[in-house]
Amino acid sequence: MKTTLSETRHTNALPLPGHRYTSAAFFAEEWERMWTKVWLLLGREDEMPEPGDYQVEEVGPESILMVRQRDGSVKAFYNVCQHRGNRLKYDSFGSTDRLTCVYHGWQYDLDGRLLYAQDPEDFPQGDPCRFIRLVDIPCESFAGFIWVNMDPDCVPLKQYLGPIHALWQSYPVAEMKRLGAKSARMPCNWKVIQDNFAESYHLPATHPSTNAILEDHYADTDFYTFDGGHGLMKMKALMPGVRALESGAPLMNDFLRERLREWDLDPVSFVGREREIRVALQQQKRKVGPSRGYHHYAAMEDSQLTDYWHFMVFPNVAVSATSDGFHLMRQRPLGADPARCRFDNWFYATMPEGEARPVQTPVGVVARDAEVEHELFDYGEKSLGRGAEEDMGNMLGQQQGFMSRGYRGALLAGQEGRIKHYHDTIDRYLAGELPARGA
Ligand code: FES
Ligand SMILES: [Fe+2]
Repeated sequence: MKTTLSETRHTNALPLPGHRYTSAAFFAEEWERMWTKVWLLLGREDEMPEPGDYQVEEVGPESILMVRQRDGSVKAFYNVCQHRGNRLKYDSFGSTDRLTCVYHGWQYDLDGRLLYAQDPEDFPQGDPCRFIRLVDIPCESFAGFIWVNMDPDCVPLKQYLGPIHALWQSYPVAEMKRLGAKSARMPCNWKVIQDNFAESYHLPATHPSTNAILEDHYADTDFYTFDGGHGLMKMKALMPGVRALESGAPLMNDFLRERLREWDLDPVSFVGREREIRVALQQQKRKVGPSRGYHHYAAMEDSQLTDYWHFMVFPNVAVSATSDGFHLMRQRPLGADPARCRFDNWFYATMPEGEARPVQTPVGVVARDAEVEHELFDYGEKSLGRGAEEDMGNMLGQQQGFMSRGYRGALLAGQEGRIKHYHDTIDRYLAGELPARGA
């Protein structure tokens, strides 16, 4: 059919105009109305186990200090001394009895109360210890992570997370160990990365090898959007996808062979019926799993035993969950520059006692070795890992494209609907319709 002029105009008003990713003014609004009103996954419980342990994390222009209290709880504060605004802690991790500012030596207790100020009699308002404390931030623990919300009137985290709170109960996330923790400073907006993790449409072109081990066709993928901007995509895995079938290439491959052998199934018996591997592995893991220490399988659906349940947690976290791995991808602004962000590509895994077999990830397997340390570098300095590197090249090109006169807005496929849901939710924050408030 011929395109009319009005239809052409309409295409110029497609969603996701470039300024959402490039404009400092847009970021300033996003910061005031959205970032400072949402729950943020920020820390990890087992990285600060003892009273006095602390962790500092930067989010956009803010620095947030999380401190383990003497009663075992965690408090979060803006990392700002109340004397004249110095950063209270300059390091990322540490342990202390008192939070001491290096500038004039003020000392705060772990709960934020000021305990010591030099020359207290010299303050016309009276001894500062009588009325000064650090500014604290709502803080909760869930799934082994520490979450904060800069909005003092926020709803509880459980309400904010909606169905995700219950869905994560079946993964023993709190007990998982960190086997991957690479982070990079990226020359792109944080939403470019979050958009990417909201869809599987890019898999055939960007990760062409994956359809040998999972179903990447939308017709056989389950998509969900939840109130609050969250989402879930369930991708069938541990079998060749339909695109692999259509390619005519051999369907049995080393990855599938290894997974079958790990669970004492004979790969030879699956040649010619490779699409049945997924269900066979589900049955075998259900049967043999508990005797190998995988007790959490009892609380999982069959699909969770083999598939990738890919969660989006509004606004900046994506998790690709498998039966034994939690691949966490987090993106957050760096300072106030809309064209920069920090990307965390982290991987957590179950560690059943005596289990030496590797753990499955979205693009391969990871050895069950010792926990790794955090690494933070500029993008390009080191590899972020194969899957992430395949993605990130596109992110940089897209950021450039968003600055072009030739970019008119996105044309989203139905299977990219979670991107629309996500941006619609951001717009609801900008319009003041969110956050939701308690009754
Ligand atoms: S700014 Fe912290 S003690 Fe002065
Ligand atoms: Fe990807």
